[in-house]
Amino acid sequence: MCAEKTEPTIKDTINGAIEEAHRQVQICNACRYCEGYCAVFPAINRQRSFSNSDISQLANLCHNCRGCYYACQYSEPHEFNVNLPRALAEVRAQNWQTFMRPRALATGFQQHGVLLALLFIVGLMLMLFAASYFRNIGDGSGFYAVLSHSLMVSIFAPAFILPLIVTGFGLRAYWRAVGGQRISVSHLASALKPVANLENLSGGQGQGCNFEREERYTNSRRWLHQACMYGFLLCFASTVSGTLMHYLFASPAPYPLLSVPKLLGIPGGLLLTVGCAGLAWLKTKADASLGAASLWGAEMAFVLLLGATGATGLLLYAATGTGLMPLLLAVHLGSVLTFFLTMPYTKMTHAFFRFAALIRDAQIKQENA
Ligand code: HEM
Ligand code: SF4
Ligand code: SF4
Repeated sequence: MCAEKTEPTIKDTINGAIEEAHRQVQICNACRYCEGYCAVFPAINRQRSFSNSDISQLANLCHNCRGCYYACQYSEPHEFNVNLPRALAEVRAQNWQTFMRPRALATGFQQHGVLLALLFIVGLMLMLFAASYFRNIGDGSGFYAVLSHSLMVSIFAPAFILPLIVTGFGLRAYWRAVGGQRISVSHLASALKPVANLENLSGGQGQGCNFEREERYTNSRRWLHQACMYGFLLCFASTVSGTLMHYLFASPAPYPLLSVPKLLGIPGGLLLTVGCAGLAWLKTKADASLGAASLWGAEMAFVLLLGATGATGLLLYAATGTGLMPLLLAVHLGSVLTFFLTMPYTKMTHAFFRFAALIRDAQIKQENA
């Protein structure tokens, strides 16, 4: 591993969880039975001893597939009590809380899902208020007759950019802590492949993970996650294309069915809604003690909020031209607003940290080659 590690940042997370992860990783390093499951074990086997930064990197590489737990001969009732998915999930959660500022918000949202729900309601009420208050001064037709375009931009531009800046600072702290180097195209390409196909949830041979069916394998979580992730990306692309059409081609929303924003947004919304509903359902089936159990509520709130952005977007489209449109517009924009405002402090951070961990893993492999 790289010599330039900023231990003080990681030190903030030193507590029972990181020490427990150290203990278990040392056992795995001696055992080496699970080598083929995911990227974590080859990373463990490359080293003899581990700093807190190394444990942090391993935690963000772990996809919580749970394969190693069900394969392990040292799990409970063995006295070693190895439960690597849980140990790494707890370090991971603490990592995200440690690196995001202000830390109180990160801790609050990750530990109390109800905060997220409350913010959603506040976001919604603000939208409803704005929608009714500014109703008569809308600067256009369609959605903009309810909420003017300039008001929408002045709310959503900062609500999108500020959380991205906070996330960027958090990621930079993580990157420094794990000794990250300059990122090359080959590092990015190596990391994008496991993101695109989520191979670390495949059990190593494509048989799937053990998330909700315990000893039995299933690819449900992997496929549902891909539906959710690609759905989200399509929705995002749809919004970007709508913005470009508005500013470059003077073509404001709402758009017809055969337009770029709709052709991206409708499949995106469907994938996002189905993916999130499925992930939420799997979550109710899975054993919470193989993850960071105290975060279950906050994670569920995040999945439901994300699903709500997709579902309300679809409903809004279905309600175009009806009297329900203003209400659904407020509900949709309220959920989107809450999603973006809370982004640095919810489970959404996993996308950034996991991607960074996969890039760092590609770098370490190259350094050791
Ligand atoms: C770098 C890209 C990404 C990677 C590597 C990744 C990986 C993962 C993994 C391994 C899980 C399951 C383990 C866990 O719960 O921690 C997960 C859960 C999830 N991801 Fe992603 N993800 C990525 C991007 C995204 C994006 C862009 C979205 C959508 C906005 C998304 C939405 C979700 C949701 C909703 C869950 C379920 C959370 C839960 O069950 O608690 N992910 N992701
Ligand atoms: S999880 Fe258990 S079986 Fe797998 S490497 Fe670690 S100690 Fe060995
Ligand atoms: S839970 Fe899955 S991804 Fe995490 S270390 Fe075990 S086998 Fe690897």
